[in-house]
Amino acid sequence: MATPQVAMFRQGLRAHEHLEFDLRPGATADALRKAFAKLQDCGIAQASVAGFSGQLWRMLAPPDAVPAGLQPLAAIHGSGGTMPVAPHDFWLWLQDRGPDLNIDAARQAVAALAPVLMLVEDTPGFVYRDGRDLTGFIDGSENPSPADAPEVAIIPEGPGAGGSFALVQRWRHDLAHFHAMSVPQQERVIGRTKLDSVELPDLPDNAHVARMVVKTADGELKIWRRSVPWGRAAVNGLQFVAFSADPQRFVTMLERMYGATPDRVHDRMLDFSKPETGALYFVPSMDALQAWVQG
Ligand code: HEM
Repeated sequence: MATPQVAMFRQGLRAHEHLEFDLRPGATADALRKAFAKLQDCGIAQASVAGFSGQLWRMLAPPDAVPAGLQPLAAIHGSGGTMPVAPHDFWLWLQDRGPDLNIDAARQAVAALAPVLMLVEDTPGFVYRDGRDLTGFIDGSENPSPADAPEVAIIPEGPGAGGSFALVQRWRHDLAHFHAMSVPQQERVIGRTKLDSVELPDLPDNAHVARMVVKTADGELKIWRRSVPWGRAAVNGLQFVAFSADPQRFVTMLERMYGATPDRVHDRMLDFSKPETGALYFVPSMDALQAWVQG
C-alpha cells in the first residue's frame, strides 16, 4: 500500500502552525511542480502535512490519484445557524518542538511557494497543558488509538489510496461566556467531566459529545482529530483538524452539530464557539506526491 503522510500521526510536538494558500492567477502545473520540489529540498515536506483542494489536485495529478468524493466543503444551514466555508487551494501543517523552529520552516515554505501560491491564513497553535482545549476540557479522549488511526484516516484502496481527507476549521471561542458558567453547567455543554473527561451518565441530547457520536449499521463513525488551541489572551479558539478516509463522515457530524437534521437539535457548543474558516483538503500519499513532483 502507498505510504501515507506520516506526520498526521506524529504526536508529542507542542508547537504547531497552519498555513493556507490560494493559487496565484496563471500559476501553471510546471511552476507548481518546481515550487514543491523546492519545498522538499528545504526538508519541510517530510516533517509536515500537505493538503490540496480538489480543484488543485485535479490540475496536478492523474485521475487514478484523485479519490471519489473530493468536493469543496459546502455551507450548512440548520437550527444552530450557518456554518461558514472558506475554501483555499493548499494547506500546510507544520509541527515542531517550539514556535521558533516553526516560524523558520513557515517562512521558508512561504518563500518556496510564493511564485505560485499566496498565503491567506497563518494560524500558530500550541498544545495547552495536558492536551486540553482552552475551555479547559481534555480534547481527544475518544480519539482512536494511534494504532487504529490509519484505518480510520487512510483511503485503503482505489483512486487516492494511501491518502486522506482533512477538515480544517479555525474556531473562535467566547471564553468569558463559557467560563461564566459553573463547572457542572460547562460539563453539560461538552457532555464530559472537566477534570478527567468521563462521559456524563445523563448526557443532554444537545451536548457536544452526544451530537458527535453517530451510530450507523457499520458501527460508530470515526475520525482522527488533531486539533490544537490558538490565540492570545483576548482572541483565541481551536484550530480544528481531523482526518478521515471518507469525507461524508465530516458532513454528517457537521450537520448534526448545526441541527441540519430531522431532529433540529444543534450542538450547545455553538453558543460559545464558532468557526471562522473551513475547508476540506485531500492529503495525498507520499508516493502520489513524489510521483507528481518527479514528473
Ligand atoms: C471549538 C470546537 C470544538 C471543541 C472545543 C471540541 C471539543 C471536544 C471535546 C472537549 C471533546 C470530548 C473529549 C474527546 O473525546 O475528545 C470532543 C469530542 C469529539 N469531538 Fe469535538 N470539539 C470541537 C469541534 C468538533 C468538530 C468540528 C467535530 C467534527 C466535525 C468534532 C468531533 C468530535 C468527536 C467525533 C468527538 C468524540 C465523541 C465521542 O466519541 O465521545 N469536534 N470535542
